[in-house]
Amino acid sequence: MSDEPEITPDAVDAAVQAALEAIGAASDTPALKAARAAHAGEGSPLAALNARLRQVAPERKAEFGKLVGQARARVNQALAARESVIAEAETAAKLESERIDMTALPQRARTGARHPLTLLQEQIGDIFIGMGWEIAEGPELEHEWYNFDALNLDEDHPARQMQDTFYVDPVARHLVLRTQTSPVQMRSMLTRDLPIYVISPGRVYRTDEFDATHLPVFSQFEGLVIDKGITMAHLRGTLDHVARALFGAEAKTRLRANYFPFTEPSAELDLWHPTFKGGARWIEWGGCGMVNPNVLRAAGIDPEEYSGFAFGMGIERTLMFRSDVQDMRDMAEGDVRFSEQFGMVV
Ligand code: DAH
Repeated sequence: MSDEPEITPDAVDAAVQAALEAIGAASDTPALKAARAAHAGEGSPLAALNARLRQVAPERKAEFGKLVGQARARVNQALAARESVIAEAETAAKLESERIDMTALPQRARTGARHPLTLLQEQIGDIFIGMGWEIAEGPELEHEWYNFDALNLDEDHPARQMQDTFYVDPVARHLVLRTQTSPVQMRSMLTRDLPIYVISPGRVYRTDEFDATHLPVFSQFEGLVIDKGITMAHLRGTLDHVARALFGAEAKTRLRANYFPFTEPSAELDLWHPTFKGGARWIEWGGCGMVNPNVLRAAGIDPEEYSGFAFGMGIERTLMFRSDVQDMRDMAEGDVRFSEQFGMVV
């Protein structure tokens, strides 16, 4: 006799049930390994039953062999099935724990910010585009004729003197860095069909000091309308609309008589700034007027048939009193911390 258990269907069944239970309860690889050792390994009840087969009478060997063989196969199948479930779960857990968000961009470089002057210039352009106007452009390196003569500024106009204007060598070429956006008026009249409704923002140059209220390079926006029956009322209405679009519903404009060679009559343009930091007040904003008939004639436009208005404002100045910027140099120095205060409006 041996100490191996007797092979009975009950004993086989009990061994299988115990194995399946342990396998089902194993939730990770080490637990399954332990279950395998206990229920399918060398010292397991099934192994003992298998060993007992040697003592079974030859005529019953087939019957008991089948019983034990099927039991072992069932347990091995359960082990294999459980193993793949656990492996899958463990792989998923590992992937989750090592997860990297590939869509998150590394912050290697600072994104920076768009310059408030650019933003304001675009906003101004949008206001006019909203009225159906077009954006006109002109060169910053300009011919003296467009910058002065065509605008009715004669040879001895003080603005033509060297102290205001950057002349480009050799002077005989008559090239200047434009001192105003007004030369775009003549360029528009010579190249566009009538009627004309254009706005022209851009950079201008003057031999000014670099201080809190002056920059030798700054920007302006120039407006020009040429159509039949245009009057000063159209100019006022347009300026009031732009003032309200930029400074709120309470904003308005006022004109004070002035002189510009290219407009007649001409006016200094003041803005009522309702939300000015130090309290609502009038602020000098720019110049304007009805296009001088001499300018129309120089462009080949009949002043008897057409009339128009023009205006020009500084964008740096506008930004200064609109956003309470104390020192214009902040707009020129390119420190991103200045731009960031105006937000990343793209
Ligand atoms: N160009 C003038 C300046 O820079 C501003 C100006 C005044 C523009 C009157 C105009 C205008 O179009 O009509 O000082």
